[in-house]
Amino acid sequence: MNARENWGSRFGFIMAAAGSAVGLGNIWRFPYMTGTNGGAAFLLIYLGIIIAFGLSLAMAEMVLGRAAQRSAVGAFRTMGGRRWAVAGYMGIVTGFVILSFYIVVAGWTLAYIVMMARGALGAGQNYGDLFGAFVSSPVEPIAYAGLFMLVTALVVASGIGAGIERWNKVLMPALFALLLILVVRSLTLPGAAKGVEYYLVPDFSEVTAGTFRSAIAQAFFSLSIGMGTMLTYGSYLGKHERLPSAALTVVLIDTTVAVLAGLMILPAVFAYGLNPGEGPGLTFVTLPAVFAAMPFGALFGVLFFTLLAIAALTSAISLLEPMIAYFVDERGVSRARAVWIMSAICFALGIPASLSFGAMAGVKFFGFNWFDLMDFLANTIMLPIGGLLLAIFIGWFWSKPALAALSNQGALHQPWAPVWMFVLRFVAPVGIVWILLSGLF
Ligand code: TRP
Repeated sequence: MNARENWGSRFGFIMAAAGSAVGLGNIWRFPYMTGTNGGAAFLLIYLGIIIAFGLSLAMAEMVLGRAAQRSAVGAFRTMGGRRWAVAGYMGIVTGFVILSFYIVVAGWTLAYIVMMARGALGAGQNYGDLFGAFVSSPVEPIAYAGLFMLVTALVVASGIGAGIERWNKVLMPALFALLLILVVRSLTLPGAAKGVEYYLVPDFSEVTAGTFRSAIAQAFFSLSIGMGTMLTYGSYLGKHERLPSAALTVVLIDTTVAVLAGLMILPAVFAYGLNPGEGPGLTFVTLPAVFAAMPFGALFGVLFFTLLAIAALTSAISLLEPMIAYFVDERGVSRARAVWIMSAICFALGIPASLSFGAMAGVKFFGFNWFDLMDFLANTIMLPIGGLLLAIFIGWFWSKPALAALSNQGALHQPWAPVWMFVLRFVAPVGIVWILLSGLF
């Protein structure tokens, strides 16, 4: 086997990991979750969860990957023995499940860039009908999902330094620039203040157990925790790098982008008197109405959907890489071969996900259509179980080596390390078991 690749720089690692975390979860899902869960109260609960255990789990994944310098399966196996490899294998399955529906929504963002640019979303249309007609058609959305999968595969096939790192170092700064432009535009619209108030002044009267559950699921998905993505990215990091500050930076970037995405979308929605509780359609149905009413709206619309597509691309890359790392590290398959075969399978799984909005809308599995089934399996079951296994493994079976690895074998002074361990041992398992049980019943 040839030598394993590493990130070219600490900055490259941070951009790649932040690129993974910042995705549709931040810009598409977070604002509508906030909109449907009572605004500022949801935001505060979400921030509390990130601080209480999101950061600790992200750090735990990275520490394990870096110590093992192997893919998730190899890392759990070398550090924990044969039986723990199951945790790694589960991550690979989760990758397939998430990618299969992620590329569908990502494909919509590409289609909307084109529609915006062609002026197909001008004033006075029924954006709900337009969206419905597009997603339910049998060919176009599947073609866009395929195009998106192809671009993702091309980046991952080029490897860590020349592919993933190189593209993230360009795309992430571009994403920040676009986001800032759009936040300023949204906040300077007449009437934006009402949206800011909704977003920043909490009303706890609407908060239920379900709010916490949604916030925890959102935190896992947004931080890319629970399937070995951060583990795999950590495995390409040199053992001399200071890991905790890198993990903290990634979490801060992800959280800042989610908060700013809310600040970009909600004030604009309020300024035009639209409904923030629209749900998943907020981005594709409500925002076109906002852009149609705004001066130079088509331009801002193109910028917005480009932002969304970039965020989705850097995340899709990180959903594909863990399974590729497995085939390369553990099975000796060439990177290119692994990428093309796995991408073809993911695309094939994306077809029923896309058709769930059209031809297969009536085909139900346990009461869900295929798309919703995959979403439910991943977010409500597989990611929480993945996070639980990780917390238990590191907290109870590998705590000494984990603490040593975190401090670069004692070279770093970390007075807070016991808090990290306490979170992995108790706070995270209890929180996750609770969300799992309450989600199932
Ligand atoms: N975090 C990404 C988002 O917010 C999605 C994602 C990428 C992900 N890699 C992951 C989610 C690994 C869970 C696990 O859109």
